[in-house]
Amino acid sequence: MELPYFLKSLAGSFMKNDILSVDIGFTNTKVVHARKKSPGLLRVMNYGIEQTPQGCIKNGIICDLDGIAENLKKAVEGSGINEKNVKIVISAGSNIVSKVLFVPTGDGRHIEEKIRSAITGQIPVDIFAQKLFYRVIDDPDCARDGLSKVLVTIVPNSVIDNYMKLMRLLNFNPVAIEIPFSSVARFFNKGAMIAGHSGKYYTGSMLKIDRGATAVIDLGSETTNLSVLNNGALEFNRIVLAGGRNLDDIISRKLDVRRELARMYKEMHGIPEQWHTGDEIERVVGESVRDYLGEILRNVKRSLSFYVERCGGQTVERVFFIGGGSGLKGLCSFAQEVLGVKVYTVDMIEFKNLEFESNLNTDKIRFLINALGIAM
Ligand SMILES: Nc1ncnc2c1ncn2[C@@H]1O[C@H](COP(=O)(O)OP(=O)(O)OP(=O)(O)O)[C@@H](O)[C@H]1O
Ligand SMILES: [Mg+2]
Repeated sequence: MELPYFLKSLAGSFMKNDILSVDIGFTNTKVVHARKKSPGLLRVMNYGIEQTPQGCIKNGIICDLDGIAENLKKAVEGSGINEKNVKIVISAGSNIVSKVLFVPTGDGRHIEEKIRSAITGQIPVDIFAQKLFYRVIDDPDCARDGLSKVLVTIVPNSVIDNYMKLMRLLNFNPVAIEIPFSSVARFFNKGAMIAGHSGKYYTGSMLKIDRGATAVIDLGSETTNLSVLNNGALEFNRIVLAGGRNLDDIISRKLDVRRELARMYKEMHGIPEQWHTGDEIERVVGESVRDYLGEILRNVKRSLSFYVERCGGQTVERVFFIGGGSGLKGLCSFAQEVLGVKVYTVDMIEFKNLEFESNLNTDKIRFLINALGIAM
């Protein structure tokens, strides 16, 4: 959502090509100072990842604004960033609802009015207290029936107001507030490539990700977000209210250790290919991850079938994992086994559109995709 009412006061700053992108997650707050070098090239000047203080975000909603503001200031200043023009990604949780709707194309009303009236009755919310983020999806079959296919995400005005208050508290210039699915779509649509494969064999050519249907799964700590892109454009999304932190709790209970230690064991072992006889920790971690993540992935698989069968979508050809949880050892082969399609993580991608200052470590890029996408 671009913020037109700020455009006047920001006319001067828009001439600059620098932006501070912010993604406040349940566990980690990510800040990126990015510079648009040209329409097709973004340079990361600096970035920071700071732990989000416990209790400040619940279910995607900021419940301690001062705590979040203080921590965000720390993340920005601690990474030596001095940029005031800010784009922010909305933290997803049960506060955000997305739907694919079919609305009559030619009845003279504005599309937003049609969406509001189509949603009323389908979702139990006061539709006039919500901000709509929507995209009309190109679909010749719908057009023939006089319908427009629309992907809409509704976000309560109170959530947007909270981000605006946060910006004011820190004297930032808000440039845009965006839903995470849109920033993911922008990131993958802007020239990311994977090495081409034919069957098992590497063909040496590069495959552009903006061709065919691609699913992107953001493995966060409280949520798992699914975005489906068709030819690079966002067509479907879903939030599963489960993530890495729940897994830490399960491992912590089974091993009777602190959650923090359970998290370390999870990150150390992931999903081992083979158990080492007698290594009880490895076995418990491996089984817990297989059970819990397996359930999340089966849930995602059902959503992908729903997208094809009920929303007229395309069969997904490849899946990308992003987010902190995508660093899990053994993730690709396990996810491929459950989902039945080729699986990638972001460290397997060649970026034509992105470069980092030479002193920056790019190992943590999986955490930064939402923040990078919104800057593109
Ligand atoms: N190597 C790893 N193996 C497994 N899990 C990992 C690894 N590295 C990080 N994680 C997990 O990633 C999660 C944090 O990722 P991320 O920063 O993307 O979440 P978040 O954005 O704060 O959460 P949310 O999106 O749900 O608000 C934690 O649960 C952490 O345990
Ligand atoms: Mg996140």
